[in-house]
Amino acid sequence: MQNLARVVYVLLLSAVLTDGVGHSRNSTKYLADEIQYLASLKVRLTGSPTHNASQLEGLSFPVFTDELPFTYYKGPLSEPSIILNNGTNLPVASFSTYSGFTGSAGVSGRLVDITTSTPEEVPDWEQARDAIALTNITNVPIDAADVFRVWPGSPEWSTGAGTPDISAEGLVRNLTLAADVGVKAVIYAWQNAATGLVDGQYAPFHNLYQGVPTLFVQGSNGMLEDLQAAAANGSHAAVTLEAELQRHQSARTIWTVIEGTDLKNESVILNTHTDGVNIIEENGHIALLAYARELAEHPPRRTTILLFVGQHMHFVAFAQPPQRATSRWLNTHPELWAGRGQRRAPQYGGQLKAVAGSCVEHLGAVHWAEDISSDDWYSTNQTEPELLYASTAPLNALLRRHWRDADPNVTRVTDPVDSVPVQGGEGYPFFLADIPNVSLVRNPSYLLKIWPAAFDEVQLVDLAAVKSQIESFKRVWRAIDEMSAEDIGEQRKDGLHRELHT
Ligand SMILES: *[C@@H]1O[C@H](CO)[C@@H](O)[C@H](O)[C@H]1NC(C)=O
Ligand SMILES: *[C@@H]1O[C@H](CO)[C@@H](O)[C@H](O)[C@H]1NC(C)=O
Ligand SMILES: *[C@@H]1O[C@H](CO)[C@@H](O)[C@H](O)[C@H]1NC(C)=O
Ligand SMILES: *[C@@H]1O[C@H](CO)[C@@H](O)[C@H](O)[C@H]1NC(C)=O
Ligand SMILES: *[C@@H]1O[C@H](CO)[C@@H](O)[C@H](O)[C@H]1NC(C)=O
Ligand SMILES: *[C@@H]1O[C@H](CO)[C@@H](O)[C@H](O)[C@H]1NC(C)=O
Ligand SMILES: *[C@@H]1O[C@H](CO)[C@@H](O)[C@H](O)[C@H]1NC(C)=O
Ligand SMILES: *[C@@H]1O[C@H](CO)[C@@H](O)[C@H](O)[C@H]1NC(C)=O
Ligand SMILES: *[C@@H]1O[C@H](CO)[C@@H](O)[C@H](O)[C@H]1NC(C)=O
Ligand SMILES: *[C@@H]1O[C@H](CO)[C@@H](O)[C@H](O)[C@H]1NC(C)=O
Repeated sequence: MQNLARVVYVLLLSAVLTDGVGHSRNSTKYLADEIQYLASLKVRLTGSPTHNASQLEGLSFPVFTDELPFTYYKGPLSEPSIILNNGTNLPVASFSTYSGFTGSAGVSGRLVDITTSTPEEVPDWEQARDAIALTNITNVPIDAADVFRVWPGSPEWSTGAGTPDISAEGLVRNLTLAADVGVKAVIYAWQNAATGLVDGQYAPFHNLYQGVPTLFVQGSNGMLEDLQAAAANGSHAAVTLEAELQRHQSARTIWTVIEGTDLKNESVILNTHTDGVNIIEENGHIALLAYARELAEHPPRRTTILLFVGQHMHFVAFAQPPQRATSRWLNTHPELWAGRGQRRAPQYGGQLKAVAGSCVEHLGAVHWAEDISSDDWYSTNQTEPELLYASTAPLNALLRRHWRDADPNVTRVTDPVDSVPVQGGEGYPFFLADIPNVSLVRNPSYLLKIWPAAFDEVQLVDLAAVKSQIESFKRVWRAIDEMSAEDIGEQRKDGLHRELHT
């Protein structure tokens, strides 16, 4: 476990030291350099510097900035720990960010077993008043074929059941309820997951500060039963999660507006987020910057906005759920997408109307798999399957023509309107604003994992896949630029997705 806050300061320093236009005409070298650069940054939490204004300025594009204030959870300031009163120091897998914190001395109390039998059941926090709560979550492998609908013409999902990256997102309960009744700390035993996968998971990441320090431990291989036995015989535990809240921090979103040569009052919004905990989450800016260089030489017909939001890893502080960080920007800048009648942005007539959006996230992820029986978690050396979305039939047709995956024989386009899960990432805000879109999200199981300092994250990136995805995006974006708004179509206002989620 590393000191995240310190990492953020190192980043701020590196931004000051490394600012420069520096781009190469050799795209392979450029990609490799960007990947190397990201690997050197490691954790980039919300509030860390935003990629990469200097490259946009170097292309003579105007750079606009929103500095958004928020309260930053700075921690852990020391190694989180759980010590039982029989002297055992339990291995801590991870901490729950913004859950709560202790001082350096930690908190202690009786260990109370409030494990639940189903994920829906709310732990009986009351039982653990003034004590340390022991509860549990269990990873449930999901078969993509069961939850994602593909457009006609796409092969069905055939990847089999795999571990979703964000199990803890939906499984960890609302900890405010625990804080309200005076639980001193919460220990989550995480079951059915390899230790390597659980270690360092930065999850759930969608909560505001809740007021009760919470740690994860491995719960498989008899560990949960062991802790339950300890609770049953009246054991005590001391829990330390040293952190502090820092008010008046800020997180930056940057964007550029490249005026169209022809359709000046229509816009296309291409976005990504810039904060993340590893090299895959997030690297989408590389595609946007590659396209920016192309647009500098060949301007678009339609006004094109490249948007780099810097609040994804803590979006709840910036927009009311289910909105996300991009929603904050959409809410603040209706003049850039909402159409005629907007009072602002007089330089564009106050009437830009977005006809399409496109979100790029998690390029080129290498797939890792787990073998729970042997507690093994390992790189398969294969590319993570692409989760490629198109929200209208014409955009699906466009992808079928222009998209080449890392595996050139498989272009699988998913229809978010009829899929069960809400689309992850910063694409969802376009849906809420009815902007048709094409987007890519890959969800490797380690998406939210903070890797050990000595781990070289470059090995998580399939450079050839990054390259083919960026080339595909550039073809698709050019093709969208050639289409009329009518031809792009409107996304459906019905469908499973809307029934379930709005
Ligand atoms: C911007 O990107 C270049 C690589 O293209 C890198 O050298 C530079 O450090 C980056 N700057 C920031 C502030 O991220
Ligand atoms: C581009 O860069 C790659 C990686 O550094 C190198 O292997 C390749 O030879 C370069 N190509 C050209 C045309 O310079
Ligand atoms: C907690 O652990 C028990 C025993 O392994 C299991 O039956 C139960 O499903 C778990 N609860 C959750 C929410 O994962
Ligand atoms: C969590 O519970 C508290 C009540 O203690 C409530 O105010 C809050 O809205 C809940 N948060 C979420 C995300 O449901
Ligand atoms: C202390 O209790 C834990 C949890 O039951 C157990 O795993 C460990 O072996 C015990 N250590 C000693 C020294 O008894
Ligand atoms: C109580 O549990 C602790 C932790 O598992 C263990 O070390 C200790 O021996 C147990 N004591 C009794 C009396 O069972
Ligand atoms: C854009 O401008 C054209 C010509 O000035 C006009 O016909 C069209 O209605 C405008 N579109 C929007 C969305 O305002
Ligand atoms: C992946 O590649 C590495 C390095 O070549 C190798 O050691 C490892 O066995 C490979 N893993 C699998 C699952 O093939
Ligand atoms: C794609 O399909 C062609 C023709 O069936 C085959 O020769 C090629 O090996 C396949 N490529 C991959 C990466 O599977
Ligand atoms: C695209 O629209 C779909 C619904 O049509 C939505 O689920 C998704 O989040 C949107 N994605 C992007 C990138 O805008």
